[in-house]
Amino acid sequence: MKLILGIESSCDETGVALYHIGRGLLAHALHTQAALHGEYGGVVPELASRDHIRRVLPLIRTVAQQAGHTLQDIDAIAYTQGPGLSGALLVGASVACALAYALGIPALPVHHMEGHLLSPLLSDPAPEFPFIALLVSGGHTQLMRVDGVGQYALLGETVDDAAGEAFDKSAKLLGLGYPGGPELARLAVRGRPGRFRLPRPMLHSGDLDFSFSGLKTAVLTLVRHHTLDQHGTVDEQIKADIAHATQEAIVDVLAGKALAALKQTGLERLVVAGGVGANRQLRARLDEAASECNFRVFYPDLEFCTDNGAMIAFAGALRLQQHELKRDYRFDVKPRWDLQEISCESP
Ligand code: KG4
Ligand code: ZN
Repeated sequence: MKLILGIESSCDETGVALYHIGRGLLAHALHTQAALHGEYGGVVPELASRDHIRRVLPLIRTVAQQAGHTLQDIDAIAYTQGPGLSGALLVGASVACALAYALGIPALPVHHMEGHLLSPLLSDPAPEFPFIALLVSGGHTQLMRVDGVGQYALLGETVDDAAGEAFDKSAKLLGLGYPGGPELARLAVRGRPGRFRLPRPMLHSGDLDFSFSGLKTAVLTLVRHHTLDQHGTVDEQIKADIAHATQEAIVDVLAGKALAALKQTGLERLVVAGGVGANRQLRARLDEAASECNFRVFYPDLEFCTDNGAMIAFAGALRLQQHELKRDYRFDVKPRWDLQEISCESP
């Protein structure tokens, strides 16, 4: 059991990869649907499913070719079973299970957030266990204590919006394109520090939970206050200033809580994963804190921060070594699924 095909289709990216136990990641390919959903300002689930159908088989052929393998060389297929959009998940799950059945090899359901969580282990140097994971994506904001593969203890999470959602919703209020996080981050570079100050919700709540839903209201108030005409136009410099203040508020809260988690547990390694982990300001802030406070911080390569097939193939490969594999090709998907549910007892 050495060569694992990974298929990711939980939202608006079709990701496929081939991971070899021993040789590492051999090939990966991604198709992003950003342009498809852009004109609607957010993901349209039905369009997402249809596009996954169009992309997944050509992507599988591409990675097999890039890696110099045929489908017959594959030993197991890992696919994202959840959480995510049910129609989109069904595409990846049905293709994975049908292909595995045809090839007579096992199909392996993977939790999308476990893929994100383990993705920094694809980099060199890889973090050793145990570590604190700050999981920051479009749907999740969580702090986990990770003692090993499958040993995940939730320390805190958002009580409302996720950090990625806060970026996306604020970006929309500023009239930026979809997905909003990277757009807002780009605009923030031109913002004047200190021009506006937004609230840091729950930063001093004493626990490791987050809340971001109030931030969009604060951004909306600023946007309204600085609207120039009836079309909702805001001065470009003011827009950049608001983007800067929004990013600062989100980064302050994420970094503050991550540091609190390290302090509370006494651990010295922090892993950051998920789309928001690509944010340069967040990385700069955590790097600075790491050198001041004597901990190490690990990130996935930028291309593996947002959704991708490599993290699914890799998580599948790590799980393969732990589980007895059944050649059972019935499948279901889990649009809502807590990472806690797949956690086994800590040693
Ligand atoms: O992990 P991901 O690709 O998908 C989910 O599992 O949700 O995360 C997507 C989220 C989006 O909210 C997107 O705006 C955000 O990650 N994101 C960023 C950046 N790149 C992606 N947010 C802030 N700065 C970035 N550079
Ligand atoms: Zn994701």
